[in-house]
Amino acid sequence: MLSTIGKIWVVVTLLCITAIGLLTRPSWSLSAFYRESSSCACRKCLTDGDPWFGELISGAPKPFLSRKYVTPEGAFNWWKHVQNEGRPYSFFNTTVHNLFQIFPPTPPFIESSPSRCITCAVVGNSGNLKGSHYGALIDYHDIVIRMNRGRTKGYEEDVGTKTTHHVMYPESAINLGNTTHLVLFPFKINDLLWLLRSFTPRENGPVKTIANKDLVMILNPGFMKYVHENWLGKKGRYPSTGFMTLALSMHMCDEVNVFGFGADRDGNWNHYFEVLRNKNYRTGPHSGTHEYELIQQLHEHKKIQLFRGCRSQ
Ligand SMILES: *[C@@H]1O[C@H](CO)[C@@H](O)[C@H](O)[C@H]1NC(C)=O
Ligand SMILES: *[C@@H]1O[C@H](CO)[C@@H](O)[C@H](O)[C@H]1NC(C)=O
Repeated sequence: MLSTIGKIWVVVTLLCITAIGLLTRPSWSLSAFYRESSSCACRKCLTDGDPWFGELISGAPKPFLSRKYVTPEGAFNWWKHVQNEGRPYSFFNTTVHNLFQIFPPTPPFIESSPSRCITCAVVGNSGNLKGSHYGALIDYHDIVIRMNRGRTKGYEEDVGTKTTHHVMYPESAINLGNTTHLVLFPFKINDLLWLLRSFTPRENGPVKTIANKDLVMILNPGFMKYVHENWLGKKGRYPSTGFMTLALSMHMCDEVNVFGFGADRDGNWNHYFEVLRNKNYRTGPHSGTHEYELIQQLHEHKKIQLFRGCRSQ
């Protein structure tokens, strides 16, 4: 039987082991250190205490357009080369102003603050989700962001059922329900005009709405330029949708978990909802390798947690 002293010794020893454990985990000791000036209400905040990351997110422009904020002409001049936009800035400006006659004048999202704690799942469409059983884990987040043709029906076990935000552009558009935010990534002025048309009532017959107009948000083209320059050092022609969504999540969330990015176990960049036809699927105008390296760096710096799915046998 242990004496009282012996019991105390055991307890103290256990406490020490725990304390050493805490001190040797940098994220814990750092978060305790920065607690008082913490930038969010989570246990650990994205923006706290990492100069490398601080540099990445510094100088970010407003992520979304609003009635009061139109992309400045300098950024527009970069953006118009992304997909050969030929029309002048004044036309862009007018189009943006017309959009905010219909959509919420300020984007429906909660700005970063010391009282905000929002957890996000950013869900890409990689085939590595197949068989991952991440569904329940993904649904557990406050915000679940999906993109393009990403769907849940028939894949619930691996990808979940909840979608609070869906990123798309006209060519990748799907119908969203009444409760999902449509996040438009515009690559040309026609994409903005498409959005306008999609929500304008026609003379004959009811509008076939693709989403709730009160939940529409439009990415600032200047944010694309910023990701291209600050994050990717101008590699590739412009960043991929998945990568920009991840960068965007840094502004909408205090904790970011990433699913469905990268190749599957055979090294293919396919989609979980498709049978792969082209075995040499390339990443087009985007620097896929560089983007994925950066995602891994974010993971190593504990800024995001990357769930790799079924990559290894
Ligand atoms: C943009 O459009 C608004 C509204 O039509 C106008 O008041 C503003 O002067 C325009 N700005 C530029 C730089 O064209
Ligand atoms: C969708 O949501 C809006 C409010 O954001 C509401 O006015 C409208 O009735 C809803 N429509 C349906 C079909 O539930």
